[in-house]
Amino acid sequence: MYKDKKVVFSGIQPSGSLTIGNYLGALKNFSAFSEEYRCYYCVVDEHAITVRQNPAELRRRTYDTLALYVACGLDPEKNVLFVQSHVSGHAELGWILDCYTMFGELSRMTQFKDKSKKNADNINAGLFTYPALMAADILLYQTELVPVGDDQKQHLEIARDIATRFNGIYGDTFIVPDAFINKTPAARIMSLAEPTKKMSKSDENENATVRILDDRDTVIRKFKRAVTDSESEICAREGKDGIINLMSIYGAFTGKSFEEIEREFDGKGYGEFKLAVGETCADALAPVQAEFKRLSSDKAYLESLMAKGAAEAHHDSLRTLSKVRRKIGFTERPR
Ligand code: TYM
Repeated sequence: MYKDKKVVFSGIQPSGSLTIGNYLGALKNFSAFSEEYRCYYCVVDEHAITVRQNPAELRRRTYDTLALYVACGLDPEKNVLFVQSHVSGHAELGWILDCYTMFGELSRMTQFKDKSKKNADNINAGLFTYPALMAADILLYQTELVPVGDDQKQHLEIARDIATRFNGIYGDTFIVPDAFINKTPAARIMSLAEPTKKMSKSDENENATVRILDDRDTVIRKFKRAVTDSESEICAREGKDGIINLMSIYGAFTGKSFEEIEREFDGKGYGEFKLAVGETCADALAPVQAEFKRLSSDKAYLESLMAKGAAEAHHDSLRTLSKVRRKIGFTERPR
């Protein structure tokens, strides 16, 4: 609780150029909370280094992700927009929560298993304890609601378990947060190349993802190449993962239901449908891209946002941090 408002927190890793999965599953929904809640939207650069990053690219993407937050409609006056590593409380609470998170529960995390497979030469401790840092991000601000895509469900569950465990030992300390996951299929946008796999910003196959900043021709070309099936009917039948994914994307951009989409494309071919999805997506992204272009060329402005967001987040984080330090028996920090 912040003053009289409940808290919303969410974060995005600057570990790749953001995709329409990030946009439809998370980012696009963030601004809806701004009036009613105290909202913190964080660029989680500390999480990004659990996988090896090129330093110059990480820096650039951190600016770009912040610019995209604003370009997607997050008003910096109404939301606390900041970079995780600018607020030391995240790492500090992250360490503390490591000590209240069990090896066994971390071992069960599917993201850890997937990323260990993908980065077999760099299965570092940070990758393993990632969920405790994510819990720290959320619990630090006494968050009630965490808007995320479907893939973060398990991480939210462990954050709730950690909060509940800590509260059980020391008495009420943290609010136990709830995930806010879209009820539409946009909560899980799939790869265009392998539609049984989640679309991921770190996918090396450029045909698998549509990026928020892809130009119009690229967007349309990627949808044209999207993997579908050997049938010709546009419907959400089992086994038609590629078509269902395209219907989910089209539905998310137009607000149309699967039934409406099936009716609209009844008797039409995949080519026509793919073109319609591509054009609709490109049209929707155009204003975001224009705003991004304007903002990203103004580094001084982005740095002023970083400074403002960091100061506010740091200030707000101290309440929970000092409460936690006291409860676990740390001595008071000399002033
Ligand atoms: P990240 O950076 O992978 O993704 C950012 C957000 O985008 C959502 N998302 C998707 N939604 C639908 N379809 C997809 N294909 C898709 N891909 C990604 C994610 O669910 C997420 O909401 N662990 C988090 C970052 C994080 C965080 C936090 C989130 C760190 N601390 C605290 C919330 C609260 C992650 O890796 O997101």
